[in-house]
Amino acid sequence: MTTEFDLGALLAERGAERYELHAKHLNPQLPRMLHTIGFDKVYERAEGAHFFDAEGNDYLDMLAGFGVMGLGRHHPVVRKALHDVLDLDLADLTRFDCQPLPGLLAERLLAHSPHLDRVFFGNSGTEAVETALKFARYATGKPRVLYCDHAFHGLTTGSLSVNGESGFRDGFAPLLPDTAVPLGDLDALARELHKGDVAALIVEPIQGKGVHEAPPGYLRAAQELLHRHKALLIADEVQTGLGRTGDFYAYQHEDGVEPDLVCVAKALSGGYVPVGATLGKEWIFKKVYSSMDRVLVHSASFGSNAQAMACGLAVLSVMENEQIVAGVRRTGELLKSRLTALIDTYELLADVRGRGLMIGIEFGKPSSLKLRGRWTMLQTARKGLFAQMVVVPLLQKHRILTQVSGDHLEVIKLIPPLVVDEADVDRFVDAFTAVMDDAHSGGGLMWDFGKTLIKQAVANR
Ligand SMILES: Cc1ncc(COP(=O)(O)O)c(C=O)c1O
Repeated sequence: MTTEFDLGALLAERGAERYELHAKHLNPQLPRMLHTIGFDKVYERAEGAHFFDAEGNDYLDMLAGFGVMGLGRHHPVVRKALHDVLDLDLADLTRFDCQPLPGLLAERLLAHSPHLDRVFFGNSGTEAVETALKFARYATGKPRVLYCDHAFHGLTTGSLSVNGESGFRDGFAPLLPDTAVPLGDLDALARELHKGDVAALIVEPIQGKGVHEAPPGYLRAAQELLHRHKALLIADEVQTGLGRTGDFYAYQHEDGVEPDLVCVAKALSGGYVPVGATLGKEWIFKKVYSSMDRVLVHSASFGSNAQAMACGLAVLSVMENEQIVAGVRRTGELLKSRLTALIDTYELLADVRGRGLMIGIEFGKPSSLKLRGRWTMLQTARKGLFAQMVVVPLLQKHRILTQVSGDHLEVIKLIPPLVVDEADVDRFVDAFTAVMDDAHSGGGLMWDFGKTLIKQAVANR
């Protein structure tokens, strides 16, 4: 028996067991769900916005690993940075020195948000949120955080306390005494602020669930209200940040919005190494880290690790050199306008919304009698089945990976790698058009699949 570890040999020998291994040792519902909807593919390789199976078939990725693959898979600059940082044999994570890479990444990240002064590096989106929640409470001395209905900020206990969906929260009580307000409702915000115990409002400038945008002017007005009551605005840019919406941060879409704390993660490390960052104003950090005794009052063992920092620096340099944000604006506008143009053609297509390359496609009740019966049947069994009926043939017939934007929603969310090009947009729009044609023909495989979904929904009740 050899004592050497050979990753390639291990994968060659056991890679085919991937689904069985997962079913046996990890969350068993994932392989079960994938088998059920025929998503149990074996992808062998990936590059940019595409995966390839063993036969060399090309799949278009419109999901970007839930947004982490901002620059697509295996961007050569990020990949080289990772190789380089390993080859440098750095004395990383000694914990009692100051390494250069975290400072350099903080400096570069802060250059994109000039009103912010300092950064805390963690390891994930939810950790970036936990940091913001703790800092807001400590800095204001108040206990309660407000969040928006349908919000998603991660699934650790603090982040779950500001999650706006009962499906995620149920069974995990007691959570923190935080309170939901409707996105865009300034009166509700003011009512809560008047109680005097609010530390902050945390908000996604565009909600991941359903792709709902904060109404024009809301963030700025909310910020003014919050500050009047000595409370903070936290922008959760874990999904929307780093160019996703056609601005570096989505809150920058409107002038005058200057959140006190900003959370980023996902795309910051190019998908290679987990990372999270909480950016904030000087006075907040000064308060949290007010004396030498408090130096480790908030810290993370893996925070600021060299691999994550090197990847982050490489990602930001690619974003700047390749003008990724401007590209997102162009490609996003093309994709959105081409999809919007289909609304008049397809009665099942209700809305296309979002900004940049974060686009929601919503389906709604059709007007014709023929389709209305089928739609109602699906809705009665479970909301969200029609969107599922679209996502499945997009992968099965057209080899395009998309996702339904949350449970019980008739919305598909597109968050492709930011490097998708016009050919990818054409491919998606052509495939989507073919799937909509099938759905509107009222018969065929698609609605048969709908019946299967209804049976499963009823059986799962
Ligand atoms: C807006 C937002 N915040 C926080 C998170 C949590 O990030 P992570 O999965 O890295 O913990 C997500 C994840 O999707 C998110 O979309």
